[in-house]
Amino acid sequence: MQKDNQKRSLKWGLLAKIFALALPYKTKFFTAVFLTLSLAVLGPLRPYLIQHTLDTYVGTGDAVGLLNFSLLLGFLLLLQSLIQWWSTLLANFLGQQIIYDLRNRVYKHLMSLKLKYYDQTPVGTMVTRSISDIETISEVFSEGLINIVGDILQILVLLILMFGTHAKLSLVCLSVLPLLFYSGYLFKEKIKGSFEDVRNQVAILNTFVQEHLSGMQLVQLFNREPAELSKFKEINKAHQDAHIRSVFYYSVFFPVVEVLSAIAIGLLVWYGAKGVLAEEISIGVLVAFILYLNLFFRPIRQLADRFNNLQMGMIAGERIFQLIEDSNPIETEGQQTLTSTKGHIEFKDVSFAYLPNQPILKNINFSVQPGKTIALVGKTGAGKSSIINLLSRFYDIQSGEILLDGTNINQYTLSSLRSKISVVMQDVFLFNGSILENIQLYNKNLSEDKVIATAKLLGAHDFIMRMPHGYHQMITERGSNLSVGQRQLISFVRAMVTDPAILVLDEATSSIDHETEEIIQLAIEKMRVGRSSIVIAHRLSTIANADEILVLEKGAIVERGTHQSLLLTKGYYSNLYEKQFTASAI
Ligand SMILES: Nc1ncnc2c1ncn2[C@@H]1O[C@H](COP(=O)(O)OP(=O)(O)OP(=O)(O)O)[C@@H](O)[C@H]1O
Ligand SMILES: [Mg+2]
Repeated sequence: MQKDNQKRSLKWGLLAKIFALALPYKTKFFTAVFLTLSLAVLGPLRPYLIQHTLDTYVGTGDAVGLLNFSLLLGFLLLLQSLIQWWSTLLANFLGQQIIYDLRNRVYKHLMSLKLKYYDQTPVGTMVTRSISDIETISEVFSEGLINIVGDILQILVLLILMFGTHAKLSLVCLSVLPLLFYSGYLFKEKIKGSFEDVRNQVAILNTFVQEHLSGMQLVQLFNREPAELSKFKEINKAHQDAHIRSVFYYSVFFPVVEVLSAIAIGLLVWYGAKGVLAEEISIGVLVAFILYLNLFFRPIRQLADRFNNLQMGMIAGERIFQLIEDSNPIETEGQQTLTSTKGHIEFKDVSFAYLPNQPILKNINFSVQPGKTIALVGKTGAGKSSIINLLSRFYDIQSGEILLDGTNINQYTLSSLRSKISVVMQDVFLFNGSILENIQLYNKNLSEDKVIATAKLLGAHDFIMRMPHGYHQMITERGSNLSVGQRQLISFVRAMVTDPAILVLDEATSSIDHETEEIIQLAIEKMRVGRSSIVIAHRLSTIANADEILVLEKGAIVERGTHQSLLLTKGYYSNLYEKQFTASAI
């Protein structure tokens, strides 16, 4: 019982939070409420006036009175239409404005989340949060609570008018009400479950299509088309079933309401006509009651639907607020702004794990003197990329310290720290857009000339100019219209164009042709000049002249020294060098 109460109060809290979204638009919100409520009162007033007109003026043949009242009715109709128009516009505007604000807020929040969150949450889920969940919330405003309150008020006003006019007649024609409410309740319960089903199925379908379209090459390569298709059919079928189930409830509910309203009117005509004949009920009352009943059934037909809109909005709201409030995004950011750096990097006894109790890096110690280059080599999965993720604070370390110019990097603001470090990631990521946009990344301080100069320096200019549109060549999904080497060169230009003090380079593992390799080699040489660099290399030729080479194994440094000294050690490095050397000699 107590739990129930708590649950209920929580929901009210949630509703309050959703409505708080309208706070910046207070005037519009309250105007919308006021308009909806006045419609609820104005609607039932018309039949009342018609009754009056019929009984008072038509009955007595008072032409002037009839004209006046007809004018009044006309005016009322006009007013009602105007209010209807205005309130629809306002409610939808409010809904859209709130979606706009909320979407910006969610997106901003998503950008502030730690990478750890992205490691654990499928992208599809986040897309659903920021697109369709938010959409649902807008319906709370345009089709939800305000309208429900309006509908209920209208029903109350109708009841007062009907019972005030003729209680017995009202009782007779409203005798179908219990049945109506019961079926409405059943409908609401059934449709709620099936709505949830539909939403889940949409999410499943989205995720499948998105993931498998990205991996289409793999699907085709492994001849998985038939299997993929049957899996897809299965998911598609579940989606269809969920939809049909929800449509089924609608298809039952609406005719039921129709039948009940027809019965109500039948009862009215039967009992009313008897009353008219017995001169107990006037014609005006009979006509007014028919109109009252019409007005009565309309909101009831919609109420069940609107309750669902409200409920769906609340479910979506709950998820979104959970994302915004509970996902613990804010990094423990420092206060100090890093304006310039000598580029003196130090890792002191750094240990790190992505997941608790699964250590990845163990007691890592090294330093990069300003302008020097440190190289990391080691087997796949040794922890090389992990080390460089730590320098830009994509993950927080469990113990030890990372210092930049002698200060713990946690003391710097994230943006100032990251602006001094350029990272070329192992997997090059390119957005849909032109080559130029992919290099500038919407940074207005980077002119096209600067981009071209950097591309020339790094040897990327030639191949870019060979493209039909040069720097304005559009890159399709993740750069599929470029070769691996070309993608890598673009990512080099992107990293270098800001002229960073520190360069972190995670060399791609994929093999490229000899010519491109030479271009890339040369580009790396040039990038390293005058800045502190951490370079992860798979081709040892890239790093033979590094100032210090660290060999990593299972998250620990097992060998360190220069190229020459490591060759003498006859350990992992010299072994690897020999293999690569003989391979290239063949
Ligand atoms: N986001 C992550 N969440 C959990 N574990 C991770 C994550 N990224 C990497 N790991 C794990 O950390 C270990 C080190 O990975 P890392 O990417 O640092 O290797 P690497 O040395 O860069 O390998 P490669 O040469 O193949 O790039 C691996 O065992 C990997 O499974
Ligand atoms: Mg790696």
